[in-house]
Amino acid sequence: MKNITYLLLLLLLAAACTPASRKLVIGVSQCSEDIWRDKQNNELKTGQYLYDNVELRFASARDNDQKQIEQINRFIDEPVDLLIVSPNQVNTISTVIDKAYARGIPVILFDRKTDSKNYTAFMGADNFEIGKTMGTLIANTLNGRGKVVEIMGLKGSSPAIERHRGFAEALQRYPGITLITSEQGDWTEQSGEQAMRKVLDEAPDVDVVFGQNDRLAMGARRAVQAELPGRAVRYFGVDGLPGKDGGIAAVKNGLMTATYIYPTHGTELMQLAMNILQRKPYRRENRLQSAIVTKNNADVLLMQYTELEKQSRNIDLLHRQVDTYFDRLNTQNTTIALAVALILILIFSAIMLYRTTLMKSRLNDELLHRNDELQQLSHEIEEMTQAQLTFFTNVSHELRTPLTLIADPVQRLAADSTITGERHELLSLASRNVGVLMQLVNDILDFRKVQNGKMSLRLSHFSLSEAITAWTRDFTAAAARHDITLTLLADPHADYSITADRDKLMRVFGNLMSNALKYTPAGGKINITTGRTDDGQLRFSVSDTGMGIDADELPKIFERFFQTRHSTGGTGIGLALVKAFTELHHGQVTVQSEKGQGTAFTVTLPVTQQGALAEDEAAAASAPFATAPETETGAETAIVATPQDETEARETVLVIDDNADVRAYVRSVLGGKYTVTEADNGRAGLETARREVPDLVVCDVMMPVMDGLEFTNELKNDTATSHIPVVLLTARTLDDQRIEGYQQGADAYITKPFTAKVLMARVENLLRTRRNLRRLYASQSVAGTSQAPAYAASATADGPVGNSRDQAFIARLRQVIQQNMTDSDLSVEKIGSEIGLGRVQLYRKVKALTGSSPVELLRTARLQRARTLIQTTDKTISEIAYEVGFTAPSYFAKCFKDEFGMAPGEVRQE
Ligand code: FRU
Repeated sequence: MKNITYLLLLLLLAAACTPASRKLVIGVSQCSEDIWRDKQNNELKTGQYLYDNVELRFASARDNDQKQIEQINRFIDEPVDLLIVSPNQVNTISTVIDKAYARGIPVILFDRKTDSKNYTAFMGADNFEIGKTMGTLIANTLNGRGKVVEIMGLKGSSPAIERHRGFAEALQRYPGITLITSEQGDWTEQSGEQAMRKVLDEAPDVDVVFGQNDRLAMGARRAVQAELPGRAVRYFGVDGLPGKDGGIAAVKNGLMTATYIYPTHGTELMQLAMNILQRKPYRRENRLQSAIVTKNNADVLLMQYTELEKQSRNIDLLHRQVDTYFDRLNTQNTTIALAVALILILIFSAIMLYRTTLMKSRLNDELLHRNDELQQLSHEIEEMTQAQLTFFTNVSHELRTPLTLIADPVQRLAADSTITGERHELLSLASRNVGVLMQLVNDILDFRKVQNGKMSLRLSHFSLSEAITAWTRDFTAAAARHDITLTLLADPHADYSITADRDKLMRVFGNLMSNALKYTPAGGKINITTGRTDDGQLRFSVSDTGMGIDADELPKIFERFFQTRHSTGGTGIGLALVKAFTELHHGQVTVQSEKGQGTAFTVTLPVTQQGALAEDEAAAASAPFATAPETETGAETAIVATPQDETEARETVLVIDDNADVRAYVRSVLGGKYTVTEADNGRAGLETARREVPDLVVCDVMMPVMDGLEFTNELKNDTATSHIPVVLLTARTLDDQRIEGYQQGADAYITKPFTAKVLMARVENLLRTRRNLRRLYASQSVAGTSQAPAYAASATADGPVGNSRDQAFIARLRQVIQQNMTDSDLSVEKIGSEIGLGRVQLYRKVKALTGSSPVELLRTARLQRARTLIQTTDKTISEIAYEVGFTAPSYFAKCFKDEFGMAPGEVRQE
């Protein structure tokens, strides 16, 4: 495009600057330099105005033959297109003129001639005729008598020769006229003066002087005035030039008698030249006519000439202006041409730019389109991945419960020391692999949780080196089984205290170890190191002597679902989880690997994290590595038997879960110690709870009809059941459920998957706390006059906190008893109806809260009132017995003795 632009510019510039056709050059070679020649040159210039593209070049030989030859030669060399020559002499210049003519340069001879015929045209006056006319005029002026002197022009110049011949011929006709002499001059005034002085020296008696031109005549006049002042001589000349120094003015002023106008005719000369150049018809011989100037016409002629000159000057001025205009026009044309060129270039550039922009925009559109497609594709891939992940998550959720139901029994069986040999091996195998499955399920759910931004750290303070030592121990058996040397290169006693989520770091470590075990061949090594970085962070690394990872795959190995080319199964979620958990700690995990040499993962962690330490529930809830081979060992999974510290009747636990297997499993765990009843949804569970008022409820959260949260809410807002501790079974990942559950009044949580050990421990703990409260309450009887026990205040955070409803219940119970105890007909039903509970509900609730039955509480209340009355009044024992609602004094006495260990009479005597 650039080249085209340059070309265009050049063409336009050329068009702007090149003339329409080549200029014609005319060389003018003048023999002399004087006012006659000046006049002629000016007329030539004026004549030039009529033609375009003509250039005149002037040269003056100043009456020098040699000079004129040189100048003509130069014109020939240039070359000029036409030569106008006024030859200095007849036969000195011919050769060079012949040369020009021979070269094809048209030659116009003007005014003077040569002896050669090699010229194109001649223009000039008839000098013979001029000499003859002037001779006749002088003879007539002298009336045929007198003495005449002729001063001639340059010897050898054709006008001098011809004028002399004409003059002499004319005078011959007048015998009274004596031509004293024809003295030689050279056309200059000075030569005229000199020649006249010479004549005067010899013949002073002169009447008329004929100068062959006006300058010679005036020179002769000066000589006469100098030599013979006052002598009356008449002077005649030739040329008759206008202007104050010209011959016409001299005639007018009486300095000369007459002159003959020798025509310059420059304009005609120019026309002739142009006719020749333009190949128009022309005449070869061009005789110029002229006239005599005497005192009679000098005035008129002068006036005419003056006018002519004025016109000529005007024309000149006009021409100069026209030239200026043309110059301006040319400049403007050039400017316009340049501007047009520039505009064209701009338009061209704009078009090119537009085209380029259009192409660019098309390309851009295409790129955008492609980009959109790619984005759409990546969106679809992301959606697919999310769908995949959601599917995995859902499946994992579904797998969790059955896995729990498999894992725990299998582990319990594997822990049974009575099972040995091959059967034990098989159980261990099953247990191990169930563990692997559990780990996978947990990884997927946890990864999902991290992705959703719902994973938070449950911080605790612990020694990383100790933890790693412990975690490493969990892998020793598996390493041994694979014939892999496991080396822990760390000082377990070094102070590597850290605040972190122990469970998550354990999972990070576990994943790295599982990976190392998977890709390290038998006979290989796995080294575990711990240490501190220069900037005070803690790190641990797991390096193996396995197959290593290809360099191009290294950057991708932490991507979810990424599997190396040499992957042997797996989901590609483990390392993604390692990275996610590490970054959740604001740490880093890096990998170094060399093909065939091994791989080293290094995890770097800050020693502390922002946030409060969590209660160590997670530690209690999470078993050691589900994947760890050591989980097969017996002691870990054995259910810790809790001594039955009460001799009370078996307590009742209501299990609510829509999964019959879960219910069966919970029953298998708790059934040995508690009476277990079941319900398969919250609604059924609520009905059972209201009817039977169990001592504790274990309830799933996600259930049809009524979920666990609504169930808890209903239960805790019903006076009959508000005291019943509720243990919710929640999904591991759903913290929100926990919070909501606590808000609804749940007393404890067990996260799925759970072990029998944890379930049993949690249930026992709650019931024990409840018994402790009961004892406390018993010491501050509802039946007595003392205030209700500081129930809530004495409850532990983890226990069946006496809620405000329970407190109100106790207060109301006390009030009903106190107000009605004198009524011997006061029954449990009546108290129940006063409080709004059925007999069984009242019984169960009162029993659960106080450890006593309502009847026992009523009796105790009556007896305590009776004791006060005995001590403070004079009423008889019988009267008092009736007053506190006993119908038989003897029965009162018995009860009193049972309650206080002494008879009523003994109390009175105190
Ligand atoms: C001018 C001039 C005239 C004369 C003519 C003859 O140069 O000297 O005065 O008439 O030349 O060629």
